[in-house]
Amino acid sequence: MKISVIGAGYVGLVTGCCFAEVGHEVICTDNDPAKLKVLESGRLPIYEPGLDRVIEKARQKKLLRFSGSAAETIKGGDAIFICVGTPPLPDGDADLSAIDNVARQIATEAQSPKLVVEKSTVPARTGQELKRALAVYSRKSGVKLSVASNPEFLREGTAVEDFLHPDRIVVGVEDESSEKQLREIYKPVLERKFNCPVHSPACPDGPEPKFLVTTINSAELIKHASNSFLAMKISYANMVADLAEKLGADIEEVMRAMGMDPRIGSSFLKAGLGFGGFCLPKDVQAFIHLAERSGVDFNMLREAERVNVHRIDRFVDKIREALWVVRGKQIGVLGLAFKANTDDTRFAPAIALIQRLLEQGAKVKAYDPEAMERAKELLPNIEYCKSPYEVAEDSEALVIATEWDEFKNLDWDRVQKAMLRPLILDGRNLLSPKDMKTRGFEYRCLGRA
Ligand code: UGA
Repeated sequence: MKISVIGAGYVGLVTGCCFAEVGHEVICTDNDPAKLKVLESGRLPIYEPGLDRVIEKARQKKLLRFSGSAAETIKGGDAIFICVGTPPLPDGDADLSAIDNVARQIATEAQSPKLVVEKSTVPARTGQELKRALAVYSRKSGVKLSVASNPEFLREGTAVEDFLHPDRIVVGVEDESSEKQLREIYKPVLERKFNCPVHSPACPDGPEPKFLVTTINSAELIKHASNSFLAMKISYANMVADLAEKLGADIEEVMRAMGMDPRIGSSFLKAGLGFGGFCLPKDVQAFIHLAERSGVDFNMLREAERVNVHRIDRFVDKIREALWVVRGKQIGVLGLAFKANTDDTRFAPAIALIQRLLEQGAKVKAYDPEAMERAKELLPNIEYCKSPYEVAEDSEALVIATEWDEFKNLDWDRVQKAMLRPLILDGRNLLSPKDMKTRGFEYRCLGRA
């Protein structure tokens, strides 16, 4: 099938590449010429494990191409996936102007019937507005444009795997032919009929993905409600961590046991510096706005957000407590990305934490395996190091702000010797307190006595 993708951000790029991987003919556009130039040269503008192999294969098979022309992209596909950004407005509501803009372009340029699929995360009822906008702008051409919602559940860092091996595919549709078209598009994924670029020689056995057909409003709500629920789970774990610390319990033990209850589930119970990234924080805010606009008092979401913002204050207090005076102290930070296996620093707890430390007069050195270039745009005035050992050299405290595997496996004796004061503040509970103490570190973490 011929598929168009508008927007080559995390979601659009992974969507386009993976649709090509499973055999569709994909054309993808973006309004950022610099990004397109990188893509056209065969490189990737983001770090996403496995995506380089997928894009290379798709290009070799000539199933994926990039275009600077939205008109060409729109004309090139039977189904058009809208994957543009919906960033937060100053009041936290989602900015949907890019969706409106794309609707106008589609309606103006389309010369044959199209299925317009919203994949961007949007508040419920956006599909209805999109339908209205498409109808207005295509009034003169009279071309048939159907609308569907197909929310994306992929996570950065495991995006290719999540896209090709989803647990569910949700499609919100208004007619049978849209459902049929989407079923056809996802057929190779549903039937696992592709050579998986992630697993070799074969994918692990697992349940087949579920294909759920809903209304457009429900599909949109499913996405926001899912991300907000995950955020609430994390905030809950973080509050229990605070309590565990006061009571002399161990949050890791508590959450492991809780997660064994299938009604609770083990994921997203990891206490730490709170949830960051471009999805959870903005989606929680947008969901709060949606509830408010709809006259529903969803205060528990506000509370989850408040707990999350407070994580950084709490950790800064911990650092201050350990260092007595922060001003003038050399603090090393390991990790800048909002989580491991990505170079994304948007709304990263590490960035917020460093900003706070700088405000208090600390001198900061940092290292991240992938995110340093991006971090430089947000934090131009810190020292970037080539290795964790360089960060440790003469530091009075070493903060772990992102849970990269690389940090788990450091030569910690070497780190211990390099530091001025061997003090570790582990914001991700990545290391073993016992092991760190045996190696001669002062070790502080979250929710563990
Ligand atoms: C999230 C959702 O998990 C995806 O399902 C969704 O498709 C995506 O948003 C999106 O809307 O596009 P992502 O932003 O890639 O994915 O990151 P997550 O893995 O959800 O992590 C978000 C934040 O929560 C990170 O800062 C992470 O470190 C933190 N986190 C996660 C915890 O603090 N504890 C946990 O137990 C899990």
